[in-house]
Amino acid sequence: MKGVILAGGKGTRLDPLTRITNKHLLPIYDRPMVTYAIEALVNAGVTELMLVTGGTHAGEFFRLLGDGHAYGIDRLFYAYQEEEGGIAEALGLAERFVRGERAVVMLADNVFGGPLRPFVENFERQERGARILLARLEEEEHLRHLGVAVLGEDRRVTEIVEKPASPPSRFAVTGLYGYDPQVWEVVAALEPSARGELEITDVNNWYVGRGDMAADVVEGFWGDAGESIDAYYAVNDHVRANGANRS
Ligand code: DAU
Repeated sequence: MKGVILAGGKGTRLDPLTRITNKHLLPIYDRPMVTYAIEALVNAGVTELMLVTGGTHAGEFFRLLGDGHAYGIDRLFYAYQEEEGGIAEALGLAERFVRGERAVVMLADNVFGGPLRPFVENFERQERGARILLARLEEEEHLRHLGVAVLGEDRRVTEIVEKPASPPSRFAVTGLYGYDPQVWEVVAALEPSARGELEITDVNNWYVGRGDMAADVVEGFWGDAGESIDAYYAVNDHVRANGANRS
C-alpha cells in the first residue's frame, strides 16, 4: 500500500497567513500541520509516501522532512504541482509512484483524533474499488463547506455532493481516501468543474456510480484545518487539549 499526501493549493481561506508560507507548514499546536498527516499514515503502517505540493514555499518541505526517516517514513518521494488545478490533479501526479498498487490518499490539512489503521485494514480487505471515511457533523453550516454523502436505505453511499447549499445528510466526506489502480484512468478523463479544478468528488462519484465505493464512519475527532480561520483554531485547540492520532 502506497500513501499520497496532498499539500498543494493556494490556502486562500487562511489568507494572509498563507501569503508567507504554505498552509500545511502552519503550526497545529507544537508542530507543522503536515506532520499530523504523515504520523497518521505511518502509524497505520503506510511508510512509502509521496508528498505533492506546489507554490513558492515547496522547498521548506525538504527542510522539514528531508528523507522522512525521522518521521518513520521508509521512502519519501516528492512531486511539484505547477498550478492549483485541484485535488484530483494533484493526485494524478502520483501515478508513476503508485504504479499498479493501491493508494491511501490524505489531504494534509486534515487532522484525526484516533488511528487510521482500521480504515487502511478495511481497504486492504476490500477486493477492489475505493473507500472513503465519513464524519458525522451536527452543524448544517459546517456541512455546506465540505463534500457530503447521500446515503441509501442500506447506508451505502449513493452520491457525494460537493459544498451543498442544502446538505443531503449529516455525513461529511473527510480527506482520507483509498483507491485501486482504476483511479488513474478516472483522473485522466476528468473535466474541470465550474471553479476550474479537477474535483476529487468527481473521482469518488465515478466509483459510487459503479457500486464500487465503500465507506467507514470516523470515531472520535476529525477536523479540516484549512476550512476557515475558525476551523484552524478549533483544530489547534482540540490537538492542544487532547492530542491527535491516538491509538
Ligand atoms: O477536508 C475534507 C474536504 O476536502 C472534503 O469534504 C471535500 O469533499 C473536498 O473537496 C475537500 O474540500 P476543501 O474545500 O477542503 O478542499 P481544498 O481546496 O481546501 O483542498 C484540500 C487539500 O487538498 C489542501 O489542503 C491541499 C490539497 N490540494 C488542493 C488543491 C485545490 C492540492 O494539493 N492541490 C490543489 O490544487
